[in-house]
Amino acid sequence: MDGNGRWATSRGRPRTSGHVVGARVVRTIVESAEDAGIGTLTLYAFSADNWKRPTREVSMLMRLFRRYLLSEMDRCVQNGVRMRIIGRRDRIPAELRRTAETAEATTRDGRRLDLRIALDYSARDCMVMAAEKCAGRPLTRDAFVRLMNEVTHSGPVRDVDLLIRTGGEQRLSDFLLWECAYAELYFTDRMWPEFTPADLIAAVREFHARDRRFGGVQESVAAAG
Ligand code: FPP
Repeated sequence: MDGNGRWATSRGRPRTSGHVVGARVVRTIVESAEDAGIGTLTLYAFSADNWKRPTREVSMLMRLFRRYLLSEMDRCVQNGVRMRIIGRRDRIPAELRRTAETAEATTRDGRRLDLRIALDYSARDCMVMAAEKCAGRPLTRDAFVRLMNEVTHSGPVRDVDLLIRTGGEQRLSDFLLWECAYAELYFTDRMWPEFTPADLIAAVREFHARDRRFGGVQESVAAAG
């Protein structure tokens, strides 16, 4: 969800006002996810490296996340959306942590959309923490994935099909590195506050047009020997 800051400053407004508009866009995109055929949507809201930002911006974001969870919880229940927060929980403000736990408990029966919000999240940290837990034990991919679930509270770790990054950046920035092993990457110059449901559908359409081989070959090629 890149581009809030640039979108705001290009309009002579403080970066934080871009985040406020960005939160409204989150609501719209979550509501349109089902129409786009999405069953699991993970939003990268705050990376472990985002703590380097000015204190004022960080505090504002923490308040905004809490406000979002509080205001969306009931709507999520009505719409069958299950909310989960992934990432570390020991560094975010206690109020936000409690609200996140309440949102997760309140929406736990949602079956239409699994909405994951990555807060204080780092894929590298997640992998290191999982590796620490398995020290000395024989390791398989499945066992490692189970350990990653434990350390990020993420529920089932699932492979990412499509990663969309707004704001013209073309990198992964420590997001779901394990899960993105075979993700299709989609980069757009659109700033997050201007991202629309139509943009989401366009990205999903492009995803369906891609040829995913997972290291193999097309079936027709295999059949031809
Ligand atoms: C990164 O780009 C964006 C963030 C660190 C914050 C994202 C937050 C929101 C979209 C608002 C609320 C989110 C939820 C889940 C309620 P940037 O805005 O710093 O953009 P820049 O690249 O233009 O500086």
